[in-house]
Amino acid sequence: MASITIRNLDDEVKDLLRQLAAENGCSMEEQARAMIRAAVEGRAGQAGRIDQIEKTLRALTDPGQNATPLSVGSSKPSIRGRLSGKRILLIIGGGIAAYKSLDLIRRLRERGASVRAVMTAAAQEFVTTLSIGALSADHVFTDLFDRNDEHDVGHIRLSREADLMVVAPATADLMAKLANGHANDLASTVLLATDKKVLMAPAMNPKMWSHPATRRNRATLQKDGIAFVGPAKGEMAESNEAGEGRMAEPLEIVAAIEAMLDERSKPLAGRRIIVTSGPTHEPIDPVRYIANRSSGKQGHAIAAALAKLGADVRLVSGPVNIADPAGVTTTHVETAAEMKEVVEHLLPADAAVFVAAVADWRTANAAGEKIKKVAGEGPPSLKMAENPDILAGVGHHSQRPGLVIGFAAETQDLISNAQVKLKKKGADFIVANDVSHESGIGPSGVMGGDRNKVRIVSRSGVEEWPEMGKDEVAARLAALIAERLRTIVV
Ligand code: CTP
Repeated sequence: MASITIRNLDDEVKDLLRQLAAENGCSMEEQARAMIRAAVEGRAGQAGRIDQIEKTLRALTDPGQNATPLSVGSSKPSIRGRLSGKRILLIIGGGIAAYKSLDLIRRLRERGASVRAVMTAAAQEFVTTLSIGALSADHVFTDLFDRNDEHDVGHIRLSREADLMVVAPATADLMAKLANGHANDLASTVLLATDKKVLMAPAMNPKMWSHPATRRNRATLQKDGIAFVGPAKGEMAESNEAGEGRMAEPLEIVAAIEAMLDERSKPLAGRRIIVTSGPTHEPIDPVRYIANRSSGKQGHAIAAALAKLGADVRLVSGPVNIADPAGVTTTHVETAAEMKEVVEHLLPADAAVFVAAVADWRTANAAGEKIKKVAGEGPPSLKMAENPDILAGVGHHSQRPGLVIGFAAETQDLISNAQVKLKKKGADFIVANDVSHESGIGPSGVMGGDRNKVRIVSRSGVEEWPEMGKDEVAARLAALIAERLRTIVV
């Protein structure tokens, strides 16, 4: 029988196949074969499904049909083909989150990727090779030495035949093995033998994640160029356990994979994105000004991360002591009024990210000349005026970008304050950081430091991200923006 290319089928037909395959506990390819057999034997008439079955058969048996998707005009942007031809080697570690790898395989395959899975012995305690094999439509590799296995292709070939290695869930053990160069089973050997990029999606108990050994291993792996997605903070699968260690959701992992593999086509290519960064300086006189502690590190990192994904980034920066990010068009401003003017001039744009710590007030009576100390007159009194809210202006603008993201640094009532800002300023997301001393990072830690801990507040809820480097927050936010822009029809 000629080979069947499921990924070339129309989404509607694929959905039907998936549903039937799930009902019958087999792979989509096996399901398609069964339907062809049934049709040949005249048994294809499951009521209500005959049309789709016929379509399937036409598409499967007529190579010409495969080139053009069958029917169904959908207004939803298609996810098909985004990872077309990409080969993912998925290493599944032993953890409860292994059940999510089933959905991950499905998501990757519906985007056109082929997925080959390696399972550790512990992973097989959580999900079966049968279900992983059915979803990946490939043999599942488990043993390092299995010369009797007709599928034994060797660890070097497994790595050579992949474009990207993804470890999900990445257990503390797998991280420790790779960080220390151990290779005593197929998964660790393949990881050590590869020259391909590796993405890890850690999942473990919060205490294991925060253990100094795991932190050390993660830092080593990052230094070795291993990319990470997650973990998130939240409820763990084990009852009564919550904290940082929950595996990133499959779609987040897919977004990270797409970003890593999309070096040439760049998911944000052709998108214009405005980013504001740094503080503003509001003059008192020509030599004195009102300012805040913002360093611009987070805003500049976001601009750089968006540029890396191919966006045409227009950074509007207040006065900072860091370099302009590479590949970004930067305009330097001093005051909130200047920042607003430049930002509005840059519209229209696909997205705008307001990271700047804009001064809320300026002096209404800034002096044209340096204010002199006059004996007996005491200090000058400053009259303050409110600055324009740049984010709110753009959030309610007639040329509002499809995606508007604000930041909120709060010392109390983080979520409720962020929710108020979300609504008032017309934003889609507020990236909220707790800059109180209790947060563990503190005001001077976040503002000026290299680490950040944020929550993403949107109308659909609150997502908590673990504490991470500002570059990592930037990369994750850029991936989120890329994913969002794909689904927004502007
Ligand atoms: N922002 C802005 N223009 C301003 C003030 C704030 O664009 N004049 C943007 C910031 O860049 C950030 C968001 O609004 O994305 C929230 O800023 P924040 O300072 O936390 O909020 P404020 O509205 O100033 O409220 P408050 O200082 O009272 O918390």
